[in-house]
Amino acid sequence: MENRKWNLGIVCLAFLFITSSSAEFLIQQVTEGRVSSVLETEYNSSYNLNSNLGVTRVMRDERPSSKIVTITNFSVIKERSEPYESSIFESSGYIWRLILYVTGNKNDGGNNHISLYVRIEDTQSLPKGWEVNVDLKLFVHNLKQRKYLAISDGTVKRYNEAKKEWGFGKLIPLSTFYNMNEGYIVQDTCSFGAEILLVKPVQLQEKVTFVSNPPHNVFTWRIHSFSTLENKVYYSDDFLVGDRYWRLGFNPKEDEEGRPHAIPIFLIAQGFKPNAVATTTWGAVNLRLKHQLGNDKKGYSAAWYPIKPGYGVGLDIILRKDLRHGYLVEDSIVFEAEMVMVSVTKIVPT
Ligand SMILES: *[C@@H]1O[C@H](CO)[C@@H](O)[C@H](O)[C@H]1NC(C)=O
Ligand SMILES: *[C@@H]1O[C@H](CO)[C@@H](O)[C@H](O)[C@H]1NC(C)=O
Repeated sequence: MENRKWNLGIVCLAFLFITSSSAEFLIQQVTEGRVSSVLETEYNSSYNLNSNLGVTRVMRDERPSSKIVTITNFSVIKERSEPYESSIFESSGYIWRLILYVTGNKNDGGNNHISLYVRIEDTQSLPKGWEVNVDLKLFVHNLKQRKYLAISDGTVKRYNEAKKEWGFGKLIPLSTFYNMNEGYIVQDTCSFGAEILLVKPVQLQEKVTFVSNPPHNVFTWRIHSFSTLENKVYYSDDFLVGDRYWRLGFNPKEDEEGRPHAIPIFLIAQGFKPNAVATTTWGAVNLRLKHQLGNDKKGYSAAWYPIKPGYGVGLDIILRKDLRHGYLVEDSIVFEAEMVMVSVTKIVPT
């Protein structure tokens, strides 16, 4: 297939599939070189989601957003098994405390690790049956790298009356934490943090549907005084199919390199009808040049049309020399666009 760019004086590039019922048609693929990049990111079906679940530890530059506790003179308490409970702090509209076990929480498999938790406080003020869902990250400051080791497991932590504390028994191994080359303890000082982000399930979703043969899907465009037309793009009136206005465009005289004798016809996506949900729109169309007695010239194209108006996808509908074989009659031609499928996007409850 040929990769080529139409210059219509508008943005008119697409990766598209054009098939033709008539083999004599000159068929174009209009592209901006994006097809290859789509194909390269091939989906790897052997990717195993389960084996990729679990605790992730990443270094990040940004300080945690909810709480930081710094302990100086760490050696004073480093052997203690009792937890340190921080002062209360507010985050996402709730009250919390950080709970730190510097020799590990034995009840949570924390042997030879630092254990760190966030507990929700002041829950007596919450309504009966309360539940707070949280995306929780815990942090150990790496003073040497001036970064934070961020620990999370990607699951949503559900705080409720029965479960007020979430965190990690195995936050970081003591062997790593005490390793002076690592940089978690510098001048007998270390620092921990928490980031608490509320997870409120979204109430609405965007639903993309595809409609075959939507109402009023045939648009006819008669062009008079064909012989007087100039070398420029002419546009039809806009017509509404699905949630979007469309128009046709063609240049009767354009001499493109490669296809000097063909007449291209474009379907161009325009604006959206009022209150429509503006998204990329699928448009599949049969484009015809009407024969006044016999067989129409016909081509099919289908493409995603971007939100921004003025994007067109085109195909060569006829060789100019063939116009007089029944298509150009009384100096007029007739194009027809039959929108065989469009997408419509709605916002609906989840
Ligand atoms: C897909 O992923 C598996 C497992 O990671 C790997 O062994 C395989 O080579 C990958 N295949 C391709 C085509 O990338
Ligand atoms: C605590 O740390 C500071 C600063 O390093 C030091 O001056 C002080 O002596 C330490 N105090 C104890 C009790 O170790």
